[in-house]
Amino acid sequence: MQIYRTENYEAMSEKVAALIAAQIIARPDCVLGLATGSTPIGAYARLVEWHREGGLSFAGVRTVNLDEYRGLTPNHDQSYRYFMQTNLFDHVDVDRANTNVPDGLAADPAAECARYDRVLRDLGYADLQLLGLGHNGHIGFNEPGPAFVLPTHMVDLTESTINANARLFSSRDEVPRQALTMGIGGIMRAKRVVVAVSGADKAEAVARAFAGPVTPEVPASVLQLHPDVVLVADAAALSKLN
Ligand code: F6R
Repeated sequence: MQIYRTENYEAMSEKVAALIAAQIIARPDCVLGLATGSTPIGAYARLVEWHREGGLSFAGVRTVNLDEYRGLTPNHDQSYRYFMQTNLFDHVDVDRANTNVPDGLAADPAAECARYDRVLRDLGYADLQLLGLGHNGHIGFNEPGPAFVLPTHMVDLTESTINANARLFSSRDEVPRQALTMGIGGIMRAKRVVVAVSGADKAEAVARAFAGPVTPEVPASVLQLHPDVVLVADAAALSKLN
């Protein structure tokens, strides 16, 4: 595993964006695995800037997002499709037809999960998968549990995740209780995994994920078994990792 330690969130975002841009330049038709949440917002802003000012082109890029809330329409302002459109896709030259987010409205979630796994397989999995890290060690919406769940699946979000995400909704009651998420199998098949983390509140999760035992109770710990993981984190997030 490689670790990039940055001073702060801004520098972390710049480094993550640089890794993604390098991937696009090396393979213009690459498959990017993308994440939502607060952490990647700065990196996406840099990529938009480099597209506008530096000519970085997403024209051939294919994308697969990690997850989507169950029950939110694509234009709900807290849906992950909406997040991707407003933070990245609407501002670069990616072809929307080449962007994939699980369908949170699918009448048959199991069929939608199976379809998403076929999309991943047909794309050959991500060349670079970007991940954020949950306070409880989740990646995507793979929550702590008795076993690593490999395929795309529907999950019941934990109280910790619902509480963490409540800040983005007008009330806690509005936070969806379920989500569709790429499984650990889809994530681990990515050729390279970039984990972005910022802030002292994530320090414990970073230490448990990367310096503790590999266990499904800390889903991110499975990344210790991946051959090409890059952790990009600020000093605060790394403060409990020896
Ligand atoms: C988002 C996702 C989640 C987040 C994680 C951290 O697509 O899959 O695993 O990456 O919850 O969220 P933030 O960045 O908001 O702290």
